[in-house]
Amino acid sequence: MTCENDAIALVAGGAGFIGSHLIDALLGRGWRVICLDNFQTGRFDNVRHLEREPRFDVCEADIIDPLPVRLARSRVPITHVFNLACAASPPHYQADPEHTLLTSVVGTHHLLQLAEQRGARFLLASTSEVYGDPEVHPQQESYWGHVNPIGPRACYDEGKRAAETLSFDFLRTARVDVRVARIFNTYGPRMRADDGRVVSNVITQALAGDDITIYGSGEQTRSFCYVDDLVDGLLRLMTHEQDYRGAINLGNPHELKVHELADLVVAMTGTRSIVSYKPLPIDDPRRRRPDIGIARRVLGWSPRVHLEVGLEKTIAHFAAEARAAADLPFVRSAVRRARSTGARRSTPSTVVAHYER
Ligand SMILES: NC(=O)c1ccc[n+]([C@@H]2O[C@H](COP(=O)([O-])OP(=O)(O)OC[C@H]3O[C@@H](n4cnc5c(N)ncnc54)[C@H](O)[C@@H]3O)[C@@H](O)[C@H]2O)c1
Repeated sequence: MTCENDAIALVAGGAGFIGSHLIDALLGRGWRVICLDNFQTGRFDNVRHLEREPRFDVCEADIIDPLPVRLARSRVPITHVFNLACAASPPHYQADPEHTLLTSVVGTHHLLQLAEQRGARFLLASTSEVYGDPEVHPQQESYWGHVNPIGPRACYDEGKRAAETLSFDFLRTARVDVRVARIFNTYGPRMRADDGRVVSNVITQALAGDDITIYGSGEQTRSFCYVDDLVDGLLRLMTHEQDYRGAINLGNPHELKVHELADLVVAMTGTRSIVSYKPLPIDDPRRRRPDIGIARRVLGWSPRVHLEVGLEKTIAHFAAEARAAADLPFVRSAVRRARSTGARRSTPSTVVAHYER
């Protein structure tokens, strides 16, 4: 195993929510990092604080295209490839389903080939979506899933399943040392306000005093892992020397109904928002909870951050973003216009969402 100070990681999707936190953690451990991103959903703001960091570099490219020559041919030794590149929220990955599928299949193939050339270790950020709308609860890695292959979520779910298939084929043929994380819902600072995920929706609506939208009855469950815990799991998975090579669930096994999350955020923000209900999107999973027995045993990993603590940091992030947006001249005038027409306190979040896009 490379000594950590000699490690050079390529983080595809490094300008995204999880990728940028992973990069901070890698640099904190003395690694050098190249962030590869097409900035589809990632933001330069997520890595702006690293602009002057000599061990950090950004390469703008799309992994469905042949990799840039400076990566593919360069003599810079890459010791680890983390593949997190893929829009992760339904509105974003469904906006261009063909690109989403190709990102997981063709893009993963390109990165596996790079890892093979360089003798690098490879980690795939897969997802709990490979289990689909699960018939088994909680979900263990041995469960093969219940996925609709032709529905609107298939570009993501089937793409990740195919990316896992490719990764394990490279592993079986001893071409690359592969690690696969099946990530469950993760939240924290640097999530986008417009990503349509339950945590960001509920918090931004609560902060703006808008109605909080719950899809379905709110009885469906999710389990939320704070991003620092997840990053710790990814690092342990990439660096462990155990014999285990199957996919590993990383997520928080604490299961919560979606309306309980909304109640908690309402209490924590002190908002006067009320909850409004809308129909459940097609193929939305009803229950989600990881069995993390393998992660505990192989990686010695389990989440440590309590939901209230993680939510507090996430609420602070969205509040700061809304404040920053409210300082923009066009937002200030939109807020004034909304106030003068008697609109509810909803304008800042609406404008944040517009600005983010
Ligand atoms: N956040 C979660 O709850 C969650 C859950 C399960 C799995 N995951 C997986 O973790 C990874 C990171 O998720 P995230 O929440 O940080 O999402 P994100 O959208 O914030 O990050 C994805 C990053 O990949 C980049 N990207 C997308 N397609 C690309 C392409 N073709 N070429 C180069 N870059 C590309 C985006 O610009 C972005 O920076 C994704 O692979 C996702 O599937 C996330």
